[in-house]
Amino acid sequence: NLRTPVIAGNWKMNKNRAEAKALLEELCPLVKDAGCGVVVCVPFTDLETALAATAGTNVKVGAQNCHFETSGAFTGEIAADMLAEMGVEYVVLGHSERRQYFAETDETVNLRTKAALAAGLKPIVCVGELLAQREQGITAEVVSLQTKVALQGIDAEGLRSIIIAYEPVWAIGTGKTATAEQAGEVCAVIRATVAGLYGEEAASHLVVQYGGSMNAGNAAELLAQPDVDGGLIGGASLKADAFSQIVEAAS
Ligand code: G3H
Repeated sequence: NLRTPVIAGNWKMNKNRAEAKALLEELCPLVKDAGCGVVVCVPFTDLETALAATAGTNVKVGAQNCHFETSGAFTGEIAADMLAEMGVEYVVLGHSERRQYFAETDETVNLRTKAALAAGLKPIVCVGELLAQREQGITAEVVSLQTKVALQGIDAEGLRSIIIAYEPVWAIGTGKTATAEQAGEVCAVIRATVAGLYGEEAASHLVVQYGGSMNAGNAAELLAQPDVDGGLIGGASLKADAFSQIVEAAS
């Protein structure tokens, strides 16, 4: 396998600064010998705390969104450059919660991805089908289309900085995990889509994560799938022991 797995925690809207500091002080020693990449994607208000708490460790810090313009009259938004200038390395883009509650579209996910790359950030681009789409048998089409639009206008060099996270919307925060086979199958669809756009060689280096109720108990089985190269972890990233066990499973 040409890929080093990446386990990324997505804290969502959880943890104030004191809680963030405490969690990371507990987490960093537990994952110091990880054989995979370890990232924590924290609320904007925790970024500075997280950067300080992870300095000199193997734990990288990410944000959970960025805007697609570099500056201007966009009240409440954060530009990719602002994150990069702080020392933030990763940014989650197009999470289904952003699509569902904040009206983000494939097109704005594409714009954000391009802005993140221009700032030198590593985007973790989320794709995934709704339950109705899975039941209708159109999962592969939906995920493939989301992937293609997200990558529009991005060259092979840009692709090298991108992680794609497959998150079936029906599995997020529901305790309902995709089976390892379902996860592996859709991650393979994503890789094949990318191969169609950039060639097999480029696709063979792409990290494709699974996300959706991944935890210490099911991580090993999901990660054993050949096209699953890590995880984007919500709930289980909020506890150091659970998250470090997932990191262990990926190592
Ligand atoms: O970004 C993370 C995913 O939305 C998964 O969340 O692990 O709480 O289901 P979850």
